[in-house]
Amino acid sequence: MNSTRNIINDKVSEYLNSFYKGVTEELTDFRLKAEAENVPIILKETESFLNTFLAIIKPTKILEVGTAVGYSASFFAETTEALIYTIEKDEEIYNKAKLNIENLGYKDKIFNYVGDGTEVIKSLENEGIRDFDLVFIDAAKSHYKDFLDAALPLCSKNAIIIADNVLFRARVASDEYDEKGRHKTNIKKLREFNEYINDKERFNTTIIAVGDGLSITVLK
Ligand SMILES: C[S@@+](CC[C@H](N)C(=O)[O-])C[C@H]1O[C@@H](n2cnc3c(N)ncnc32)[C@H](O)[C@@H]1O
Repeated sequence: MNSTRNIINDKVSEYLNSFYKGVTEELTDFRLKAEAENVPIILKETESFLNTFLAIIKPTKILEVGTAVGYSASFFAETTEALIYTIEKDEEIYNKAKLNIENLGYKDKIFNYVGDGTEVIKSLENEGIRDFDLVFIDAAKSHYKDFLDAALPLCSKNAIIIADNVLFRARVASDEYDEKGRHKTNIKKLREFNEYINDKERFNTTIIAVGDGLSITVLK
């Protein structure tokens, strides 16, 4: 097995992806380009799930940690009425995202920030930017809990937190999938995060085996 391991049966995944359709031609091209350049964007099955889920929850203000080149932010802009605040740590990637978002015509809906997710979220709080009803965490796996804790004070009542890659190619479920022991820290931190969001007193969480594992948490 290698790092491209699918967390579910490959045939099932292929079957599910046979129903995938990009939301617009521009987003389809955007995905193809990002995939060709090995930029880690949300998987097709994750996008398909989110597409339906967003239509149900109809968010109005989204906080995203982990912009990369702006694919998921653009997808949110296309599929919802929400304003999107998205954070990217790497300045070069942030600049690419800004350009992509501008070229796609989403610059009035998406606000790009550069810096560490936790730090930027704290600065948003100081600027009075709050009332997020959806938080999407898709950045450094070892900091998911920090991102969540920083974001909680900025969330509206009953906000939804979605985190991607919480099964991390199945390694989070079992150490046997970390054959060379290279991912110990990320695995440990993701396990701690999954435990944390499963605190039934504070959160209502489900983890689903879609894409690379998605957690969906509703604040109580
Ligand atoms: C998986 S990619 C995001 C993909 C994007 N959400 C999409 O689907 O189009 C993760 C991104 O998080 C960024 N990142 C890593 N650590 C971060 C941090 N502490 N704060 C903000 N961004 C971070 C990385 O530079 C990378 O571009």
